[in-house]
Amino acid sequence: SPEPVESIIGRLSATVPDYPQPGVVFRDLTPVFADGPALRSIVHALIDPFAGQFDAVAGIEARGFLLAAAGAYASGSGVVTVRKKGKLPRRVYAEDYTLEYGTATLELHMDDLRPGMRVLILDDVLATGGTLAAAARLFERAGVQVSGFGVVLELAGLRGRANLAGRRIRSLVRE
Ligand code: PRP
Ligand code: ADE
Repeated sequence: SPEPVESIIGRLSATVPDYPQPGVVFRDLTPVFADGPALRSIVHALIDPFAGQFDAVAGIEARGFLLAAAGAYASGSGVVTVRKKGKLPRRVYAEDYTLEYGTATLELHMDDLRPGMRVLILDDVLATGGTLAAAARLFERAGVQVSGFGVVLELAGLRGRANLAGRRIRSLVRE
């Protein structure tokens, strides 16, 4: 029988203490992405529950881009980039946010999606939820409906769901 997706993630992911700063336990999913069957399994586990409920898949720079491009291709929809400040060339919405190890600004091109479209937002890790909450604000300013969020790993101790009240969140592993 096929290995459960949470088992695949546990077996392949890495843990790095004190990165990028002392006190942070960094969870590194690059070995999961580097494994072909694992990548296919996690992408389907993230998008299949939202089938028929989104018109585009968004990824958050940088690790979310990998999941979003794969998920968009697998579902036949387009991919949208939510980027760190200063990377998008045309008119953007911008939202400041805090995350587990700092503060930053995310941006979205104003016209990448049309008002009324529905977006599924993917990222690798849900920690404090600051990043995903900021991404949702960007799409809602653009008149785009957020169908939900998919993340590979949820660090439940950081209470990210409290920042995302009322949203649909699919996480493949909670720890
Ligand atoms: C990481 C991760 C999420 C975010 C989660 O990205 O990929 O996007 O932090 O943290 P939060 O839930 O506390 O907001 P990071 O900002 O380190 O960017 P990177 O992917 O470009 O390294
Ligand atoms: N993003 C925010 N906190 C993180 C962590 N502990 N590991 C990996 N990515 C993160």
